Amino acid sequence: MPSTRTPLIAGNWKMNTTLAEARILAYNVVHMVGVPKGVDVAVCPPFVSLPIVAEALRGSPVALGAQNLYPAESGAYTGEVAPNMLQGLCRYVIVGHSERRAYFAEADEFVNAKVRTALEYDLTPIMCVGETLQQREAGETEDILRTQTSGGLADVDDVSSVVIAYEPVWAIGTGVAATPDDAREGIAVIRNTIAEADGQEAADSVRILYGGSMNPENVASLLEQPGIDGGLIGGASLNGEQFVALVRAAEERERE
Ligand code: 13P
Repeated sequence: MPSTRTPLIAGNWKMNTTLAEARILAYNVVHMVGVPKGVDVAVCPPFVSLPIVAEALRGSPVALGAQNLYPAESGAYTGEVAPNMLQGLCRYVIVGHSERRAYFAEADEFVNAKVRTALEYDLTPIMCVGETLQQREAGETEDILRTQTSGGLADVDDVSSVVIAYEPVWAIGTGVAATPDDAREGIAVIRNTIAEADGQEAADSVRILYGGSMNPENVASLLEQPGIDGGLIGGASLNGEQFVALVRAAEERERE
């Protein structure tokens, strides 16, 4: 049965691009991508570049996403960005990225607060989950994926409004993507976890992306796996041609 989930190709620019570079990259993506058929596309630049990239995306189907938010409307949280500051500007917001879990000690409860806050403010959270190499080698992958998925989605009424990205930490920025089998299996664990908590229909409606060294060479083999609904792209999203090649690969899959 063909999936009814529209694939999403989202670029996470991380802490890259000056204002000028962000503007040029956004214009390049818009110009090259045109109107993607059957695929949603988003770019997530650094906070300071959101307005300038929003300007570049105007009139284009490419959506804007932020890389983080703080789960409060205002207050004494120096350096943080509130959901109402993103509302109306962004469609997506990445939460729980492994870099934030690792370098800023973000735990599932905090990630969950961000997911629920994003939904309250009409932002689609892209919630990242994934095991480290050490956890994989210790045979803990399934446990980690189950804990992060159920922890992050706790008390979320409408899970179908959440996008999940399975990003094995060992595959991020290493040039070594998960094998298609490993990616499919990880995503199946995530979807089963949702099915057990919220029912199969809800689980079938959630888009689950793969992330970690996805590039124009490996994209087709990953996207042809059942259950992989697109990609969250780091390095390759900083290159307009490469990023658009991933969008084209997702369009190709939709045509098949
Ligand atoms: P890379 O594509 O650079 O491995 O990064 C993946 C990622 O972390 C996207 O959020």
